[in-house]
Amino acid sequence: MQSERTLVLIKPDAVQRGLIGEIVSRFESRGLHPVAIKLMQVTTDIAERHYHEHRDKPFFMGLVEFITSSPVVAMVWEGPGAVAMVRAMMGATNPADSPAGTIRGDMALSLAMNVVHGSDSAQSAAREVEIFFSAAELLDWENSGAGWILAED
Ligand code: RTP
Ligand code: MG
Repeated sequence: MQSERTLVLIKPDAVQRGLIGEIVSRFESRGLHPVAIKLMQVTTDIAERHYHEHRDKPFFMGLVEFITSSPVVAMVWEGPGAVAMVRAMMGATNPADSPAGTIRGDMALSLAMNVVHGSDSAQSAAREVEIFFSAAELLDWENSGAGWILAED
C-alpha cells in the first residue's frame, strides 16, 4: 500500500484533559511515523481555511470558535494507507456512534468536543498539511538517520 501523510489535530478539549500522550501513543504504537508535531494556538485565519468546506453549515462559527479557543497539537503522521487508517482509529464523527477501541469511542462523549481531527482524503490531507506546516517543518524520514525503519515496512 502506498505511503501517505495525514493531518491530525488534538483538539482543545483533549489538550485540556491531558490526553496528548495517550493519543500520540496510539498512532506510534500502530506503527505510523510522526513527520511533524507542534503545540500551537490556532488563529481565526487558519481555522477558517482549515474548515473551509463547512463555511455554509450552521455549526461553522462554533467550529472556528472552538478550535481557536485554546491550544491544539497539530501533527502529520505517515505510513501505508495513513489517511484511512487514522480515520478508522478515530471512530465516527459523533462519539456516540464510535465503538470502544477507537479514540473517540474511548475518550469522547460530545460531537463538538470530539477530541481529534483527521484528514478525510489524501487531497484534504495535502491541503491541510500546508495550512498548518511549512515544508521545512516536515521531517524527511527516508533521508534521515532513521531511514532504515522504513525498509522494515
Ligand atoms: P474532523 O473533521 O474533526 O476530523 O471530523 P469529521 O471529518 O468526522 O467531521 P466533519 O464533517 O468534517 O465535521 C467537522 C467537525 O464539526 C463538528 N460537527 N458538528 N453540529 C453538527 O451537526 C456537527 N457536525 C460536525 C464535529 O466536531 C466534527 O468533528
Ligand atoms: Mg472532517
